[in-house]
Amino acid sequence: MTGLAARVQQIKPSPTLAISAKAKAMQAAGIDVINFGAGEPDFDTPEHIKAAAIQAIQDGFTRYTAVPGIPELKEAIRAKLVRENQLQYKNEEIIVSCGGKHSFYNLAQALLDSGDEVIIPAPYWVSYPPMVQLAGGVPVIIPTTEEQGFKITPEQLRQHLSEKTKAVVINSPSNPTGAAYTRDELQALAAATADYDLLLISDEIYEHIVYDGFRQSSVAQLGPAVKERTVILNGVSKSYAMTGWRIGFTAGPAPLVAAMTKIQSQSTSNPTSISQKAAIAAYNGPQDCIATMLTAFDERRRYIVEALNQIPGVSCFRPQGAFYAFPRVAGLLGKKFAGETIGSSLDLCNLLLEKAKIAAVPGEGFGAPGYLRLSYATSMANIKAGLERLAAFVDQLSD
Ligand SMILES: Cc1ncc(COP(=O)(O)O)c(C=O)c1O
Repeated sequence: MTGLAARVQQIKPSPTLAISAKAKAMQAAGIDVINFGAGEPDFDTPEHIKAAAIQAIQDGFTRYTAVPGIPELKEAIRAKLVRENQLQYKNEEIIVSCGGKHSFYNLAQALLDSGDEVIIPAPYWVSYPPMVQLAGGVPVIIPTTEEQGFKITPEQLRQHLSEKTKAVVINSPSNPTGAAYTRDELQALAAATADYDLLLISDEIYEHIVYDGFRQSSVAQLGPAVKERTVILNGVSKSYAMTGWRIGFTAGPAPLVAAMTKIQSQSTSNPTSISQKAAIAAYNGPQDCIATMLTAFDERRRYIVEALNQIPGVSCFRPQGAFYAFPRVAGLLGKKFAGETIGSSLDLCNLLLEKAKIAAVPGEGFGAPGYLRLSYATSMANIKAGLERLAAFVDQLSD
């Protein structure tokens, strides 16, 4: 076979999906693995949403639709943006894509020329840098520490801005840390970028999953001037347990949405017709399913953070949102398991999967070596058993 494109060499497969696939393969082979790798709610899609999809099939709503999504879904998204975010958008400012990941992909393709820079705070969602690179852009990573709450400061942002900066990614609440920016913090970040001709990309996919009374804000709420240079990314995957349905949306400036629509028309065409009907039911239907999930996530969050903090060599930041614990494991590095030295968080994850039968994602994938990501979107029984296994594993380590 002839050689593959250079762009493929630049990127690696998603480590989160890879770990999850490995854990699922082990489970299928009869091995009792506890999977903390998944980035998706363990709840079933609510019945009224499934019913809308079944109805769509029975009605024969199974053909191509308008490329950026059917008007009825755009209406539902616009109503959601008013109801939950107090934001007004027009139909031509919204495009529905095949999941939030696809929304970001289209956005990068529509926005970036070769060499354009995109600022990405670390720890970051694994897919931002490769999607920027696939569009010819250059990810500019701003590291953050646990001590600063895994949030970039306006000073840090100023230091990384340049004439080449085309966009700044703000993911709040964050995957993988669960850190969330307050309205004042968002205001300070937006102000730091005021003199630059750039776009603020606000990834709000975890907006509903916030704890301890945290008040979720969108950078687009900071006034018309900021809204004009902000693009919101969101979708039904996390809020409505609909990861497999593949519906995400972008709300932002009409010329950008038109450009994304052009790209979508020449790649995936429309998002799945049936899933679009289901998404309408999600946005327009009863919202209590979100609160039910949130209560369960919060209980698990409290348990897992406390249990992790009791393990010697491990400490865990208290997340304000999303459904991930992001413990620091630097205290375990350099130690040995059955004579084998743990040199990195990646080594640790491999050993945990092999020896303790726990699947976690190494911090390396998020630009944060020395950390692990454990998704608590799994049952309390799994969390308890998994944490026991982790503690027993750590107990066996020697210097
Ligand atoms: C931060 C963030 N943004 C966007 C997405 C995209 O989700 P999806 O493509 O499943 O809608 C994810 C999923 O893991 C995510 O963690």
